[in-house]
Amino acid sequence: MNDTVTITDNRTGKSYDFDILDGTRGPSVVNISSFYTDTGMFTYDNGYTSTASCNSSITFIDGAKGELRYRGIEIEELAEKKSYLEVCFLLLNDTLPTKEQTKEFDLELRHRSFLQEGLTNLFHAFPSGSHPMATLSAATAALSTFHFNHLDMSNESEYQTMARRIIAKMPTLAAFAYRYSIGACFIQPDISKSYTENFLYMMRAYPGGKMHMDMDGQRAIKEIEIKALDTIFTLHADHEQNASTTSVRNVASTGAHPYVAISAGVSALWGRAHGGANESVIKQLEMIGSVENVDAFIARAKDPDDEFRLMGFGHRVYKNFDPRAKVLKSLQVQLQDELNLDSNLMKIANRIEEIALNDEYFVSRKLYPNIDFYSGVILTALKIPTSMFTPIFVIGRTVGWITQWIEFKKGKGMKIARPRQLYLGK
Ligand code: SDX
Repeated sequence: MNDTVTITDNRTGKSYDFDILDGTRGPSVVNISSFYTDTGMFTYDNGYTSTASCNSSITFIDGAKGELRYRGIEIEELAEKKSYLEVCFLLLNDTLPTKEQTKEFDLELRHRSFLQEGLTNLFHAFPSGSHPMATLSAATAALSTFHFNHLDMSNESEYQTMARRIIAKMPTLAAFAYRYSIGACFIQPDISKSYTENFLYMMRAYPGGKMHMDMDGQRAIKEIEIKALDTIFTLHADHEQNASTTSVRNVASTGAHPYVAISAGVSALWGRAHGGANESVIKQLEMIGSVENVDAFIARAKDPDDEFRLMGFGHRVYKNFDPRAKVLKSLQVQLQDELNLDSNLMKIANRIEEIALNDEYFVSRKLYPNIDFYSGVILTALKIPTSMFTPIFVIGRTVGWITQWIEFKKGKGMKIARPRQLYLGK
């Protein structure tokens, strides 16, 4: 016999019991799936602030503590000790890979990183200068046309192939979207390079694949850059039922192709309230321009009549520091010396953080810096153009989306997503 919650309709005095379901971590849920049939009413939860849409065993967040775990392992440990590819394997298989499995996984992703020629031609259909997120979303959906075999859901190796293929191709799709946006030719993947280095290579190499050399003949792609970007991919890999993952699951629930579901995730992520915030943070810091102007912008962010918001601040779940922001902040300090972090942008960002963490408006609303507040400054130091900030988020998050897609498809009793409404019309 489950514990229950009783809801009483005070208009009729009738009471209704609903089961409480407990998870392995975090809040329990009240199973209200029979609420409409029992009461004739719908529940209402604008923005799903108190609603669990599914059960999952992939990622756990404790917003009050500022805790994030992938398959039970804390993000701080993974960011410090594991490569992004090891984290991908962990998310997909619920276990960290052995050295052999890591090598096999890495090799397979290198071989799968190429795009069919027809898909490459797609980019040329877009106006020159198109934002990489627009062409990336379209190209991701188009990938489904090259792999339209209906997945045998009972065949684990088919799942793995479908997942590894899109994880492998996303950096190439993103790099090609960037190259097209600047009118440069595409640089094919180089399978002698690691996953993360290859992405930077495809973004930066000259036609013919030669890399720019520093004056002293140093490698154009430094180890510190590869490690920093690899950590950024890990921090973005998954994040429970956020808006873009919910979009992926909703599309999965209709039975559409997995790659168009991922494309829906790419589109949802682009919004500045979500993954597009990293690009908006830098634009905002540049607009503020100097430390002296920060106070005026903080006042605007607090003004209820001004739609201006402090990009990179606040989070639906974290009511404490975003643990990913903490990792990025320490990475920022490490990079300070190694890479020329834009000191003016850094000063403005540090001033915003200093004020906001002590100002009653932000403190009372538990508005802390989130992952996007710091990622933009670091990506700028890595000489990544701002138009590529959200595509980099896409690359990191692809493994989370496809893992959540697989969990949905394997789930027992998963239903098509079909919320109801409070009707206010005629
Ligand atoms: C990501 O969900 C995820 O997990 C997302 C993500 C992931 O990994 O997938 O973590 C990635 O999207 C991070 C968030 C990036 N977005 C931004 O940085 C954009 C700026 N932040 C806000 O737009 C906002 O904080 C949200 C969208 C992130 C959260 O919005 P909520 O939870 O719906 O909160 P809300 O809008 O109801 O705000 C509560 C109050 C309001 O004030 P009051 O009406 O109570 O007076 O806080 C205020 C808001 O006006 N507020 C802000 C603010 N964020 C919230 N005021 C000023 N600046 C802000 N940034």
